[in-house]
Amino acid sequence: MRISVVGCGYLGAVHASAMAHLGHEVIGIDVDERKIEALAAGRPPFFEPGLADILTSATSTGRLRFSTDIGDAAGAEVHFIAVGTPQMAGSDAADLRYVDAAVESLAPHLGEGALVVGKSTVPVGTAGRLAERLAEIAPHARLAWNPEFLREGFAVKDTIEPDRLVYGVADARAVHQLDDVYRAAIDAGTPRLVTDYATAELVKVAANAFLATKISFINAMAEIAEVTGADVTQLADALGHDVRIGRRFLNAGVGFGGGCLPKDIRAFSARAEELGRGEAVGFLREVDAINLRRRQRVVDLAVEALGGTAYRRRIAVLGVTFKPDSDDVRDSPALDVAVQLTGLGAEVVATDPQGIENARARHPQLEYVAATAEALRGADLVVLVTEWQEYRELDPVATGALVGRRVIIDGRNVLDPEAWRGAGWTYHGLGRP
Ligand code: UDX
Repeated sequence: MRISVVGCGYLGAVHASAMAHLGHEVIGIDVDERKIEALAAGRPPFFEPGLADILTSATSTGRLRFSTDIGDAAGAEVHFIAVGTPQMAGSDAADLRYVDAAVESLAPHLGEGALVVGKSTVPVGTAGRLAERLAEIAPHARLAWNPEFLREGFAVKDTIEPDRLVYGVADARAVHQLDDVYRAAIDAGTPRLVTDYATAELVKVAANAFLATKISFINAMAEIAEVTGADVTQLADALGHDVRIGRRFLNAGVGFGGGCLPKDIRAFSARAEELGRGEAVGFLREVDAINLRRRQRVVDLAVEALGGTAYRRRIAVLGVTFKPDSDDVRDSPALDVAVQLTGLGAEVVATDPQGIENARARHPQLEYVAATAEALRGADLVVLVTEWQEYRELDPVATGALVGRRVIIDGRNVLDPEAWRGAGWTYHGLGRP
């Protein structure tokens, strides 16, 4: 099948590569020349495990091409929209200008029977509006909404082997066209749900709202644990054995960040308010507030651990990305903590296996070092904020020999408190005694 993917960021670059890997003939389109050049040469413009392999093999066979010219999408039958929907400056709502521009610029190049498929996360109601617009400017084309549920770090696997497919459609032919695109997953038995536009749009935001709520729920329990001496990690284990609750996404710590959960719950609240149903999702404001309080808690704990002031104290911050196995620093709790500590006069030295370049572009005032040992050397306090495997495996004895003072805040509750205390450390977890 001939496919175009408009927008080659995290979502689009992975989607284009995965579709080509499945045997489709794919053209990826983006306005960013440097990004297109890198992708065409088989180089992912960001870190994502497994992407380089499928990108290189698909570009070398010619099944996957890239262009900055939207006119090159003309020969395709299915056109995916995978552009960003960032939080609008000065508001919680999603900025839809890139989605709108993609549809407008694609319209003159749509052939008879072409299907435009939205993948971007959008406020409910967007697809209906775009379908009306398409009927005006490209009446021979149709629209479908097919949300993406990929996780960074697992994006390739999540795209090739999704746990479900959701098609928001207004006509039966769109279902056949999407089935042809996802034939491999469908043959493998992937559940496929056919819905209207609004339901498909809502599945995505509801899923992210649920996940964010689950994390904030356990972080709220961590707040209670902190004043009662309970251990939130044991609490999560015990709760998780109830299959109705489940253990996943119950890890208390510095909270969620990234390019999706924070902006998606805010955009959902903003959209619900526009629809006159703000109270239905009023709890999402609380979910957001609990989440941001956890960042503040780590900063307060750091000051406390340093004896009341961070001024001129050397702090090693381990991790700058919002999660491990990614170089993404968007709304990263780790960077937020590092910036706040710097603001308190601390000498922060941050390190990360993949995220330093992106972090430096956003916060050039921070000091970054590539080697973990260098960040740790002479530190008065160590703050682990992103649970990269390398930090989980740190040896408390060897680490103790590098630092100035053996005090650590485990912002993700991934270290063994007994082992660290046994090696002479003062260990602070979040929601753990
Ligand atoms: C998320 C959704 O999982 C995905 O389905 C959607 O398509 C996009 O948004 P992603 O942003 O890649 O994916 O990251 P995810 O693994 O969901 O983690 C989000 C944040 O929550 C991270 O900062 C992570 O550290 C944090 N988190 C996750 C917790 O604090 N505790 C947990 O138990 C799980």
